Amino acid sequence: MSDSHVVLITGTSSGIGKITAERLATRGFKVYGGSRSNQDSRDFQSLEMDVTCTRSVKETVAQIMNNEGKIDSLINNAGISMVSSVEDISIETVSQIMETNFLGTVRVSKAVLPHMRVRNSGKIINISSIGGFAGLPYRSIYSASKYAVEGFTEALRLEVEKFGIEACTLQLGSVHTDIKSNREENLTTESPYFQEGSKVARQFNREVDRGLAPEKVSKKIEQLLHRTRLKPRYRVANAYQKTFGFLIRPIPSTVIEWLLRRHYKL
Ligand SMILES: NC(=O)c1ccc[n+]([C@@H]2O[C@H](COP(=O)([O-])OP(=O)(O)OC[C@H]3O[C@@H](n4cnc5c(N)ncnc54)[C@H](OP(=O)(O)O)[C@@H]3O)[C@@H](O)[C@H]2O)c1
Repeated sequence: MSDSHVVLITGTSSGIGKITAERLATRGFKVYGGSRSNQDSRDFQSLEMDVTCTRSVKETVAQIMNNEGKIDSLINNAGISMVSSVEDISIETVSQIMETNFLGTVRVSKAVLPHMRVRNSGKIINISSIGGFAGLPYRSIYSASKYAVEGFTEALRLEVEKFGIEACTLQLGSVHTDIKSNREENLTTESPYFQEGSKVARQFNREVDRGLAPEKVSKKIEQLLHRTRLKPRYRVANAYQKTFGFLIRPIPSTVIEWLLRRHYKL
């Protein structure tokens, strides 16, 4: 069994996942990255994995288990964004976003959990967004997928803590990556939502272009991997986005969790 801290990160072909994989690899972690486009990397082991496909996820996890004998940490980072009105988005696109952002997180977590449980140890960090605590206009399905990740993670924590497994979300504000060129966009001139949707899209673009450096996120992830206990959620965002988050949810997550534990006698 590997002596190193073995980490699986989803979505490492670009952006936050790639920067995080590179950072952790140079700091002594044994990193496996999974994306649909398998890109060669000198720093970490890049595997072809599609989080929307159960077989692909199971094969990737089996390969890592075969090589290392354990997976210490999972970072569910793979995700796609969108810009569209609810009326204009196709159900196929809705399904693709939910399959990637939410079901992908569930799928990879389910594949990894049994291996963490038998070792009585593990960490799962689910990448979320300010869209995970506020429904963002023209990003309804993206927000819904991140709300789903939030609820999933809150419940998962309470189920797995007795097995030594820690889980949290990391809510991100705008981060300077290529997310806007990879997003699903449906803004057609015929749509009654076109003008407003385009204006909001331009604002999203500006916010991402002026967003935080992805290195800031990777640094936070590294810090979380070194912690023994994880709180339910963390946030890396600019001051405005952080304040917004606090105003929306002033009661600390730890207090809500304490109430749930008491109620269900966990
Ligand atoms: N950038 C921001 O402002 C921001 C803000 C809040 C939250 N986030 C979250 O941060 C995460 C990373 O985003 P990013 O900004 O780094 O965007 P990005 O550069 O577009 O990276 C997205 C990654 O997800 C992978 N991916 C997409 N579909 C996949 C699938 N079916 N299976 C496996 N991998 C898949 C992509 O690789 P392939 O296409 O090669 O598969 C890519 O490596 C996402 O969850 C996003 O929602 C970003």
